[in-house]
Amino acid sequence: MLQVTEVDHPLVLHHLTRLRDVHTSASEFRVLVQRLAVLLVYEAADDLEVGTISVKTPLMVTEGYQLSQRIGLVPILRAGLGMVDPILELLPTAEVWHLGLYRDEETAQPVEYYSKLPPRNPVDVAFVLDPMLATGGSAQAALETLQSWGVKRTKILSIIAAPEGIKAVQSRFPETQIFVCSVDQELNDKKFIVPGLGDAGDRIFNTIAPKIDGPEA
Ligand code: PRP
Repeated sequence: MLQVTEVDHPLVLHHLTRLRDVHTSASEFRVLVQRLAVLLVYEAADDLEVGTISVKTPLMVTEGYQLSQRIGLVPILRAGLGMVDPILELLPTAEVWHLGLYRDEETAQPVEYYSKLPPRNPVDVAFVLDPMLATGGSAQAALETLQSWGVKRTKILSIIAAPEGIKAVQSRFPETQIFVCSVDQELNDKKFIVPGLGDAGDRIFNTIAPKIDGPEA
């Protein structure tokens, strides 16, 4: 698993535990996703290239640096949207290219519903953003799309992942780097990550269907 980085920083451990908690509200969940996205991108941006520039400080002209590659953030809708804004804070010149994919509940296969990448001029580096990598089907569909666009360097940033999904992505896209806060135990028989955190999209957007007899108090 050379291309997999599990960011087990104390801040990650702390915020991830709150994220997993079934009692965490949607508003806190969104903030926690943002914090963890920042911690992930700090690691994932480690090898971005910089060029030198000169900068005039209040005292003198000196040498400085600026990012020199075209970077694309590729959030997988819906849940990946929760990671975009905090990462844009750190990479303000990045481009955002949305991909709409949902996982069919019966088959667990990804279904694409939105993709408008241009036919040419790919970004130099693409960061695929999705809080969860379960079977890896959605991530692989996203990577295929990026490959067709001609992107040479791809990185997946997920808050949690299942070992099965990581393995599946690695076998088809061995060059893709994967950054996660946690490699969880496994997928259950419904292909949900356990111990997991539930459905990140529903928790971010507060769309967990209430039970017939009304929402829990
Ligand atoms: C979840 C998650 C990933 C996908 C992971 O999305 O955010 O996109 O499932 O599963 P996989 O690795 O097995 O493909 P979901 O289909 O629930 O859509 P949503 O983000 O709109 O809630």
